[in-house]
Amino acid sequence: MKNNIAIIGGGNLGSAIAGGLIKNNYLQTGLITVTKRNLSTIKFLQDKGITITNNNREAVENSEVIILAVKPYIVDTVLNEIKDLLVPNKHILISAASGISINHIKEVINTEVTIFRVMPNTAASVNESVTCYSYKKANNTEKEIVANIFNSIGETLDIEEGLQEAATILGACGIAYVLRFMRAMIQGGIQIGFDAKSASRIVYQTVKGAAQILLQEGNHPEQEIDKVTTPKGCTIVGLNEMEHNGFSSSLIKGITASFKEIAKN
Ligand SMILES: NC(=O)c1ccc[n+]([C@@H]2O[C@H](COP(=O)([O-])OP(=O)(O)OC[C@H]3O[C@@H](n4cnc5c(N)ncnc54)[C@H](OP(=O)(O)O)[C@@H]3O)[C@@H](O)[C@H]2O)c1
Repeated sequence: MKNNIAIIGGGNLGSAIAGGLIKNNYLQTGLITVTKRNLSTIKFLQDKGITITNNNREAVENSEVIILAVKPYIVDTVLNEIKDLLVPNKHILISAASGISINHIKEVINTEVTIFRVMPNTAASVNESVTCYSYKKANNTEKEIVANIFNSIGETLDIEEGLQEAATILGACGIAYVLRFMRAMIQGGIQIGFDAKSASRIVYQTVKGAAQILLQEGNHPEQEIDKVTTPKGCTIVGLNEMEHNGFSSSLIKGITASFKEIAKN
């Protein structure tokens, strides 16, 4: 099915989604347009066959699926700019703006266009995002269209809208938590003898391998940890030292602190 897609806001996330769709050959089935006011930073998307423009209205008119990827405080401005062009049963409006509810969007646009709220992450650029999506009223075709778009840049989960803030923390902020953990592992690797480049390669592949084990075997992490912890061995000594220093606790506290912060807004 051909659905032209307009991504409004070609920043970190918007460009990552566009890049992921391109990698997945989406252009064979539809046109992708990315908008932003200053186009100089997204010329690389144009080189890949994506239409770039600073005209949001034109992008909406030429598309069926509109993905809003602007900062939350700009959402209302953009909605007010495009709302008279939104046609129920033609357009699907998908908002990636964190903290902006479907009800709020509906109030601003004041039309019966189907609205989805999504929370992808920046691994969309390498087709490895996890995108949690929610809707209030959507038919099966619309759900399929949205799932197909975001499945093309990773995996999707259909969740209650009430869990969108939690999805933001675990999935989108989660990228930063994991990267900081990886940076710390690299620093440790350098201290025990590797140059930065070698330490990085070992850590990247180890993290990828650990994730693949869980994804492919479907085991609980602790089952896999048991396999590498010889009694009295170096792994369990290191792991326990990390736990004595609050490793799991600090991650859980960080996640709940982020969640409290998002809940304030
Ligand atoms: N980054 C993430 O990992 C992530 C993950 C999930 C959800 N989100 C959500 O995605 C949204 C975007 O986040 P981001 O990190 O990608 O922010 P960002 O890098 O600042 O991107 C937003 C882009 O919107 C453009 N923009 C601003 N006003 C515009 C307008 N009137 N019309 C068209 N484009 C406009 C900006 O470019 P110009 O100034 O040149 O116009 C900017 O490049 C946020 O609401 C965030 O909550 C982000």
